[in-house]
Amino acid sequence: MAPSLASFLSAVALVGARVLLVSAFDNSRYDNVAVYWGQNSYGAVNSADTGNWQKPLAFYCQDDAIDVFPLAFLNVFFGPGGEPSLNLANTCNPTDNATFPGTNLPICTSVGTDIKTCQAKGKIVTLSLGGATGSVGFTGDSQAESFADTIWNLFLGGSSSTRPFGDAVLDGVDLDIEGGTSTGYAAFINRIQSHASGASKKYYITGAPQCVYPDASLGGVLNAAKFDAIYVQFYNNPCGLQNFNQASNWDFGIWDNWARTISPNPNVKVYIGAPASSSAAGTGYQSISTLQNIATQMRKAFPSFGGVMLWDASQAYANNRYDLAIKNTLTADGGTGFTFPACSAPAFVSGTAYTAGSKVSYNGYIWEAKWWSSSTPSANSNGDWSAISACAGPATGSSSSSSSAPSGTSGSPSCSGVAAWSSSTVYTGGQQVSYGGHLWTAKWWTEGDTPGGSAGAWQDDGACVSRRVEAVVERELSAPLPSRPRTVSRLFRL
Ligand SMILES: *[C@@H]1O[C@H](CO)[C@@H](O)[C@H](O)[C@H]1NC(C)=O
Repeated sequence: MAPSLASFLSAVALVGARVLLVSAFDNSRYDNVAVYWGQNSYGAVNSADTGNWQKPLAFYCQDDAIDVFPLAFLNVFFGPGGEPSLNLANTCNPTDNATFPGTNLPICTSVGTDIKTCQAKGKIVTLSLGGATGSVGFTGDSQAESFADTIWNLFLGGSSSTRPFGDAVLDGVDLDIEGGTSTGYAAFINRIQSHASGASKKYYITGAPQCVYPDASLGGVLNAAKFDAIYVQFYNNPCGLQNFNQASNWDFGIWDNWARTISPNPNVKVYIGAPASSSAAGTGYQSISTLQNIATQMRKAFPSFGGVMLWDASQAYANNRYDLAIKNTLTADGGTGFTFPACSAPAFVSGTAYTAGSKVSYNGYIWEAKWWSSSTPSANSNGDWSAISACAGPATGSSSSSSSAPSGTSGSPSCSGVAAWSSSTVYTGGQQVSYGGHLWTAKWWTEGDTPGGSAGAWQDDGACVSRRVEAVVERELSAPLPSRPRTVSRLFRL
């Protein structure tokens, strides 16, 4: 018997409803949650609690909490047989699982099935290259380009007889490069993007720099290639979440400024990278309410904000669904649209001395003085000012927060820790050097242009304060910086 028209129509409506429920990943949103999966970080530090060890990937795709899964890690670029190697801990690795002959590349067929399950729910799954102890790096651009061809053929839109995830096609590449030189990475990205330019779906390039700006391994690459998003590691670093309330340490504003004025992709999204539990990192873990508060503030303050990255899925699930809790906050804060806060601090006045904590409006940001300063605010990690919010419109605050300078130091910037200018070094906008006894800030990309020279590439920030005075000023006026342990004790950690 033929089905009635009514039941046929309701079946169509049901199918339609199911399709509508799956919203495709949207990189331009402000409420995305990216969670690394693959390393069983929880199991590595809680070996007895096997019930909370990492589950198969599809286990983490059952609700709308997580939007992006970087698979961690492709940890060896050039292994036996010239092929890369992959380690997904208890799920798939070259020791416990079969490998393609002559290689250390494991055959992870069931992961391929899970990748497709997650993609069908509108999530993206990318391949993360590197890790804290990855065996990575290139000798030059040509090696990097042929490696990009390998990655394209093994994991993305190309084809090969040695695809660890079979016919599952990953959605892009994540670079978690924490060692070696930056040689070749820009060429690698360009090559992936040239393969992707003719493809039927979008491929994403992301990176996971340390919060210390610029990133030691990826800094030049971030300035040279187009990233879609960066997951900044605000942990295991002095600029980590534990120091959110210190303008001298918290530097999301520098990353926002990088995104909007230096990155070749001005629409690149910046995520707060956070540990998903206290055992996921040495420093930086925050209670969920604190992380929610920080994420909400950054979402309202900076237009480049893209969401939150967590390390890693096993830790988040074992920690009371930390991923779901932060997702709910980001959703409540609004996934689209950005309203620039008003420039509510008084306008910066050149030549004025400001005490630590003073706030000024200047150049599209509200800045807070890290310590006593009379220099011009700039998004520079060696600078005196921290960009605490983007802003728009005229400065509206009253100018009562400035004070006079301690005698003898008026207008003199600190040049402590600032490298001398070199004619053969490439500088990007915002970088500082010392030259001729003055501190200088690069206005834009420059090489071989002498500070003070006719090219006009450098802003003169004034004569460096003398060492003796500087010591007094620093001792009295600046908060002590915490030591900078980069404690990564285990293999394959982000
Ligand atoms: C890899 O080997 C482990 C241990 O035998 C097994 O539990 C897992 O299912 C295997 N992974 C795949 C993807 O086949």
